[in-house]
Amino acid sequence: MEQTQLIQTKGPFEAKVSFNKPLRKCFHRLGLQFTGAGAEAFAKTRPGQFAQFDISTVALPSPEAIPEELRDVASKQILLRRPFSFARVAKEKAGTIVEVVYCVLGPATLRLTTLAKGQSLNVIGPLGNGFSIPQGKKKAVLVAGGMGSPPLEHLAQTLTTEAPGLDAIAFAGAKTKDDLPFEKLLDKISQELGFWLGEFAKYSISSFVATDDGSAGFKGLVSNCLLDWLKQDNIIPADIIIYACGPKAMLASIAKVAADKRIDCFVSMEEMMACGIGLCQSCAVKCKSSAGETYKLCCKDGPVFDSRDIVF
Ligand SMILES: Cc1cc2nc3c(=O)[nH]c(=O)nc-3n(C[C@H](O)[C@H](O)[C@H](O)COP(=O)(O)OP(=O)(O)OC[C@H]3O[C@@H](n4cnc5c(N)ncnc54)[C@H](O)[C@@H]3O)c2cc1C
Ligand code: FES
Repeated sequence: MEQTQLIQTKGPFEAKVSFNKPLRKCFHRLGLQFTGAGAEAFAKTRPGQFAQFDISTVALPSPEAIPEELRDVASKQILLRRPFSFARVAKEKAGTIVEVVYCVLGPATLRLTTLAKGQSLNVIGPLGNGFSIPQGKKKAVLVAGGMGSPPLEHLAQTLTTEAPGLDAIAFAGAKTKDDLPFEKLLDKISQELGFWLGEFAKYSISSFVATDDGSAGFKGLVSNCLLDWLKQDNIIPADIIIYACGPKAMLASIAKVAADKRIDCFVSMEEMMACGIGLCQSCAVKCKSSAGETYKLCCKDGPVFDSRDIVF
């Protein structure tokens, strides 16, 4: 009975590729169309949740399209499913469209680039808990580091429909301008107005960019950019909620900023995952407990955690 319920709510489902376009550098945006039970399941997706893709039968690109640095690993078999979060989810006549932004880093993400419109992808999900919408807050602060922006883009979409009165602002950081996983940085006027990133501007959310080398926006870590912004006189910590997603070191810095300023903060952790459904214990996250420390599972108890609960 439990297994039948799992199959109905989490799949596996066959999704059809509706588009798969390069954004720039290693970044791509993939659109997946779910119909039937899959459409129902994915229509209820919360931002921050993820899905496990079966990439084992997806073809490799032609040898000349394989980047030099991936030539040695490209032909590795993809035995384990790979986790991806969502950048946008939309209910349409033809089903539920789920958009994923991915960066080509290894053999599985390399194969994803060959998926063409109409091809199928086997997907288990949506999995994990996702971000919840705050009660009694006036400002949502979305902080992305590197590839952490897709679930925050989805959160921005969700806030416009579920919390239209809530003000929001986004921060995105990366090593250099080229490492920001967005389609394009907007023009000078947009930047002066605070709308650097089209992905957030489309939800009327202004954004700050931080790069380690200063090639765009604030020169330095995104946590320092946030700290600068928090120095404004009119900031009331109790009115704010921070949502962050990115590398662990960046999440640790954001958690510290939040703790020092007494701001509520939720972080989406990215641990390496094998099963994605709480069976293999490969995604343990060290957390605080009344008895000292304990381990929780990123795939099942997370990936979103209250930053105060994590032992960074
Ligand atoms: C909950 C969750 C959501 C994710 N969402 C996205 C997303 O929206 N877009 C996206 O591009 N990627 C996302 N990822 C990461 C994605 O799963 C990996 O990039 C992918 O599995 C890499 O597979 P690969 O075979 O191409 O590369 P691999 O050879 O498996 O890995 C390439 C490099 O990336 C590192 N890496 C792989 N997986 C992770 C991970 N989970 N955390 C940290 N480092 C990792 C490896 O250490 C290695 O250095 C997410 C991961 C998790 C856990
Ligand atoms: S990935 Fe297997 S328990 Fe979390």
